[in-house]
Order: sequence, then C-alpha cells, then structure tokens
Amino acid sequence: MDRPGDAATAVRAAASGTMRLDIISIFPEYFAPLDVSLIGKARERGILDVRVHQLRDWAHDVHKTVDDTPYGGGPGMVMKPEVWGEAVDVVAGGGTPRMIVPTPSGRPFTQELAQELAAEPWLLFACGRYEGIDARVMREYGARLRVDELSIGDYVLAGGEVAVLVMVEAIGRLLPGVLGNAVSAVDDSFAPGAMRNLLEGPVYTKPPVWRGHEVPAVLLSGHHGKVARWRRDEALRRTVANRPELAAGLDPETLDKRDREVLDELAFRVGPEDMAN
Ligand code: ADE
Repeated sequence: MDRPGDAATAVRAAASGTMRLDIISIFPEYFAPLDVSLIGKARERGILDVRVHQLRDWAHDVHKTVDDTPYGGGPGMVMKPEVWGEAVDVVAGGGTPRMIVPTPSGRPFTQELAQELAAEPWLLFACGRYEGIDARVMREYGARLRVDELSIGDYVLAGGEVAVLVMVEAIGRLLPGVLGNAVSAVDDSFAPGAMRNLLEGPVYTKPPVWRGHEVPAVLLSGHHGKVARWRRDEALRRTVANRPELAAGLDPETLDKRDREVLDELAFRVGPEDMAN
C-alpha cells in the first residue's frame, strides 16, 4: 500500500510515469471538474494521481478555524501557519513534492513553466483564501522543498482554487499520453518553437458556407504549402492586433520575406520600440 508522503511512493510514481498532485484547500468541492474531460481521463488511465485534502482537517478548535487577523492591521484575514504546517507535514510526509502556492503576488505562470512542472513527479498545491497564507509557511517549506508562488494573471481571484484548476489543466495536457495522437502541444502559441510569440489564427470546419459566411478559399484548395502560409499570415495579423507586446518580441531571425511583408502592411515593426503601439 502506498502511503501519502512516503518517499518510496514518489519514486515508484516517477518510474511508472504517474504524476502525483496533492491539493490542499478549504473548498475541496472546487476540484470536481478534475473528474471530467482530459484530466478525468488521465486519472482513469493512471497518468495522474490527484488527491484533494480538506485543510480544516488540521484545525483543532471547535470552529475549525483556519484564519486570523493580520499583524500590523489592515483589512481581511490571514491563514494561520500552524494549520498549514500540520497539513503540509502530513501530505508531504518525508517526501519532496514541489510546492506551488497560487497568489496574485507570485511570478507569472507561463507555458514554459507548465512544461517545466510537467516534468516533476509530484506537485503539492496550497490554496490560500482571504489575504493569503502567513509568509512563514513558505519560508519553512522553502528550506526543504522547492516552493513557487505563482500568479495566473494580473487580476485578483477570491482564492487559489481556480488558479490551481488552470495550472493543473495546463500541466496535465502536456503529460505523455494525455492528448490524443492527432493533437499535439508542440504548436501551442506559447510553446518554444516555430509558433513562439505567435497566437494561433482562426479555424473553420464544415459547412463551407454558413449564413452567407464563406470559409477562406485557400483552406479548401488542398494546397498544403499555401494553407501553411495563409495560417502564418493570419497568426501574425492576430498577434499584432491582440498582443502587440508579444509580436514585438518576435525574433527577427525567424521572420521570412513574406512575414516582413505582412508586418509592413500592418505598419508594425518588430522590436522593443513598438511596445507602445
Ligand atoms: N489567487 C488570487 N488571485 C490569483 C491569481 N491571479 N493567480 C493565482 N492565484 C490567485
């Protein structure tokens, strides 16, 4: 029998290709979506081993208190270190999961980081609510685990749960065997490679005409070279329109003559000077 936190469990998991995910939260119900779709299937196939824990199980007073008022004053409540300490001690046991704390104050969670985390055998997510978790918890575990405070974007959620769902989906779909054969993560907009810094362009399916709107003729031509070129033109146009700061970061070395024509038509120059556009 595997025991949570057993170092041998982590080693076995890595050898078997299973990634273990522990999630500690006061709202375990938030994680019901992990039973369905891509991630649900990955769990059924044994690619992912997800374990959700109720933080209040480690609170000992009758009200199962997990928070208290902030030292120094100010609004809101701060999550208590003792409760988190007991929870992480039990869940990590003697093992060494990489610990992830979602917070709007963290460094950005990116596709590159998703790829790095997808290579880990064991992740432990600690979901804060209110104003966050007492900072000593991250210091305590930072001394013996890799601890990352991560933000999924420049907006403030009510707690870390939704951010963890986002991260688990982004990481989970990169695990070998999760995406079907026909689909691949290599063309993702933010993945290193040919499409780096390029958003994907528009997509179409049958019928060829819908409510008078036609599918661009090139896509029906069967000419793979022309289709690829059209898709790249559209990707460039969309990136300049929606994410000029990404387009500005395109490596000029990766741009061919036609790319430069498209960018010229848009009066867009690659390089930091266009950041203000
Ligand atoms: N918790 C609250 N807001 C968050 C955000 N933007 N990213 C990660 N965790 C959060």
